[in-house]
Amino acid sequence: MGEHIAIEELIDLSGKRALVTGGLKGIGKSIASRLSECGATVLVADNDSNVKNESPSDQLNFIECDITDNSQLVKAINTAAGNDGLDFLINNAGIFPTTGPIEQVTDQFISRMLEVNVRAQFSSSREASKKMNHGGAIVNISSIAALRGGANISAYSTSKAAIIGLTQSFAQELGPKGIRVNAIAPGIIDTPGVQEQLEPLKAGGLDINAAISANPLRSSGKPDYIARAALFLVSDLAEFITGHLLVVDGGATA
Ligand SMILES: NC(=O)c1ccc[n+]([C@@H]2O[C@H](COP(=O)([O-])OP(=O)(O)OC[C@H]3O[C@@H](n4cnc5c(N)ncnc54)[C@H](O)[C@@H]3O)[C@@H](O)[C@H]2O)c1
Repeated sequence: MGEHIAIEELIDLSGKRALVTGGLKGIGKSIASRLSECGATVLVADNDSNVKNESPSDQLNFIECDITDNSQLVKAINTAAGNDGLDFLINNAGIFPTTGPIEQVTDQFISRMLEVNVRAQFSSSREASKKMNHGGAIVNISSIAALRGGANISAYSTSKAAIIGLTQSFAQELGPKGIRVNAIAPGIIDTPGVQEQLEPLKAGGLDINAAISANPLRSSGKPDYIARAALFLVSDLAEFITGHLLVVDGGATA
């Protein structure tokens, strides 16, 4: 810890092993590509194998895995870790069906949202940490919805706010083992998942296409912005950073 390291070595991830959940599309796909570009061996775990079949040119390793199924999750983590152990977990897989007005939100809907976005992310970090034999870094994907809420997204924002508590507690407990745990709160990022929600969100009064660029930088949210932040957080540049929520939103919540 603490010795001077040349800048060009800081994001050299060769020899590192990473698991990216939900890495076949959107933000996860960008993060997986960036980690791989920096030399890490990356395994993408996703439950949508159809996408994989559509993009055979993708050089990333893939395992079909529903993160809510513990045996599939543990298998993905063990595969990513190999014999040497796991270095990075990017806890990215998440769902964001439009919640709708509070009085219409069913318990079943809330349970499903929490199951994927919170319970499975908790299990994923717990299991991954067991494989981080030489320390490591976990990056959880929260959302700016955790910070400011929003009409018609109550169940989603509740789930993403929980990720902040998860991140802070895991950071405290795993820090002594050399495992850093941070979270990113992306602003609105143009991904396949967001595109699927355009119409229902518009019906609820949110024009997502307009919101994607509604930030002080007037820049539309791209998955690579989040990938660059994830790269920073796993790298030695963030050696002294843990339990932190990094907001990456072009200043939308400033
Ligand atoms: N796009 C945004 O504006 C935005 C903003 C803030 C936070 N986020 C968060 O970022 C993460 C990625 O979002 P995105 O926009 O790239 O989504 P996306 O829907 O475009 O991609 C999500 C990926 O996760 C996979 N996935 C979903 N459920 C899964 C499960 N149970 N097991 C394994 N894989 C599963 C999907 O198959 C898909 O490949 C999510 O956690 C989301 O809540 C997104």
